[in-house]
Order: sequence, then structure tokens, then C-alpha cells
Amino acid sequence: MVCLGNICRSPLAEGLLRHHLQQAHLDNLIEVDSAGTSNYHIGEPPDLRTQKNAAKHGVDLSGLRGRQFSIEDLNHFDRIYVMDTNNFNAAHAIAEQATGKAEIDFLLNILWPNENRAVPDPYYGSEKDFEQVFQLVDAACRQLVADLKKTDQKR
Ligand code: 4NP
Repeated sequence: MVCLGNICRSPLAEGLLRHHLQQAHLDNLIEVDSAGTSNYHIGEPPDLRTQKNAAKHGVDLSGLRGRQFSIEDLNHFDRIYVMDTNNFNAAHAIAEQATGKAEIDFLLNILWPNENRAVPDPYYGSEKDFEQVFQLVDAACRQLVADLKKTDQKR
């Protein structure tokens, strides 16, 4: 899960995906992490507004820490989900040097295939914007787990 700062959208996506994978008993099969394309917030916990909003929905993000997205991620992970076009372009620029075959896609393409919709950056927004981000990311992560569950049942 990749955004710009790794303090608002992508840690939320990491926390929600972990949460829904646990509910589906798939958490032991899938590795989840998040990172930011910038180096602005390395080592920092998620933004307090993101943490508060997630906590309201029963999701604890307090243990997560910001880190920067790197070539290692592209070599290690199968799928990279980005939040917006800037993240997509940044990930692709790094991917040119990677040997891994990670698929890079917009998180919201899970809900709206091929539309490349963005999870809006809430950093300069209001509480309402953080809740909107929560609803979008939660819906995408729920759908992703439902899709993975179907794949798992076919194994
Ligand atoms: P994120 O939000 O990319 O969802 O973590 C942001 C966090 C920090 C900044 C911008 C967006 N910033 O400019 O510091």
C-alpha cells in the first residue's frame, strides 16, 4: 500500500487490509506492508487524525511507522497498490530499475476497474475528508479480501 507520506492513506490501507484478512483467516498467507514515495515522515506514527478516525471504527494503527517506498518493495511484493496518479508515476519510475515483477495498480481499481480513481489526499482536509478516505479504503480492502478468498477456495 503506497501513498505520498505513509502517514494517512497507506497506513490506513495496511491496517484495514490486515484487519479484513484476519477476519477471513487469510492473514497467515499474505504479507502486507505500506510505504510512502516521499521521505517526509520516515519513522513517524500515522497522522493523529487518521489514527483517531480508524480507532473510531475499531482499527488500531498506533504501532505503524512511516518508511519510504523502495526498489526492494518492487522486488519483494507481488502487488503494489497506489492511492493516486503521483504515487503511480513514482512507483513506475522506480520499477524501471527493479528486477521483480510486481504489478502496480490503483487501490480503487479494485472497486472501479480501469478508472484509475484516486483516494484523495486528506492531509490538508477536514475530519469529513478523513472519514471519506476511510470509507473508500475500507470498501476496497473488503473487496480485495473477498477476491483473495475466492482464489484461495479454488486452490
Ligand atoms: P498521505 O498524506 O500521502 O496519505 O500519507 C500526506 C501526508 C503528508 C504530506 C502529504 C500527504 N505532506 O506533505 O507532508
